[in-house]
Amino acid sequence: MKNPSQYKDLSAFEAKFEAQKIAFAPITFQCARVLRTTGILKEVADAGSEGIAVDPISDKTGISHYGVKVLLDMAASMKMVRQEGDKFILLNIGHFMLNDKMTEVNLNFTHDVCFKGLYHMEEAIREMKPAGLKEFGDWPNVYEGLAELPEQFRESWFAFDHFYSDGSFPILLENVFTDKPKKIYDAGGNTGKWAVMCTKHDPEVEVTILDLPGQLRDAMKNAEKNKVQDRIKGFEINMLDDSQKFPENPEVIWMSQFLDCFSEDEILSILKRAAATMGPDARLYILETYWDRQRFEAASYSLNATSLYFTVMANGNSRMYHSKDLIKLVHQAGLIIEKDIDDIGMGGHTLFKCRLA
Ligand SMILES: C[S@@+](CC[C@H](N)C(=O)[O-])C[C@H]1O[C@@H](n2cnc3c(N)ncnc32)[C@H](O)[C@@H]1O
Repeated sequence: MKNPSQYKDLSAFEAKFEAQKIAFAPITFQCARVLRTTGILKEVADAGSEGIAVDPISDKTGISHYGVKVLLDMAASMKMVRQEGDKFILLNIGHFMLNDKMTEVNLNFTHDVCFKGLYHMEEAIREMKPAGLKEFGDWPNVYEGLAELPEQFRESWFAFDHFYSDGSFPILLENVFTDKPKKIYDAGGNTGKWAVMCTKHDPEVEVTILDLPGQLRDAMKNAEKNKVQDRIKGFEINMLDDSQKFPENPEVIWMSQFLDCFSEDEILSILKRAAATMGPDARLYILETYWDRQRFEAASYSLNATSLYFTVMANGNSRMYHSKDLIKLVHQAGLIIEKDIDDIGMGGHTLFKCRLA
């Protein structure tokens, strides 16, 4: 994939149009979303190549003639639909807005988690604080509030988080279990999804989830629901506190979509504390999505946008990293990467298998 900073420039004519799309982006975003939630886009899709006029859409959806028309006129400008005579016909962008799971997950995440807070981006950038989070409550970062945040926020946050890791986990189990570990420490194990999958994959393995107290409560409930509470344990830790150590003698430490929650200095401190407990046979796995390791431009675009969620809503100082930045920190922590695997799952994950240098 090309580095996004090396894309060819557009003509002035094209660039001016692209600049207008950006200037109106929050409006087009909400237009696309409301076309879905009102059912208008579905009516256009169901009409197929025949198309459908405003009045029958209005009758079926209960949205006024004015409402349907103002949304579909914008949708035509956005190339989601095409107008022929008085009828509207679905185009490919409209099809993906309506039917593509990834688009739905990203759209809901942007709306339910980010939209209100994005107004505070400049403050977040200047102060290096998640200034948008105050729209929901008074927490120092999203992770300390996650268990208490509104249900709609949580639902879209977890759907986003799980969507990208779910596809990768089955492939990763094969990798991690080739060494037949008996114990795994899952740093940032969140709802315990990976931990539960490990216990199902291997009937003997024990997993300890290292996380904040709110997340551990949810994870233990999940373990009980799956009847594996005897093999999943919680280890309460705030990784931001340098004095809090990792549990001793790890066989495998697992960090999935975890280090992107921290700044470079914090990552170095976490990796050093992990390395301090590792013996020569211990292995540390780091699963991340790096914007420079993506095969598709759409993936790098999404990852760079996700970085700004971290800025405004999550903690003000973390991001989706360039792989070289992470590799440098791994080395500084006294570790080496013995396996480096790209393109795992549809989330474009990269797995580093690390050991002491
Ligand atoms: C993006 S989630 C990753 C979830 C899961 N590992 C996955 O791959 O889907 C990040 C996890 O790191 C945890 N985390 C964030 N900051 C933390 C901190 N300061 N101390 C401990 N855990 C933290 C969060 O609570 C959350 O469970």
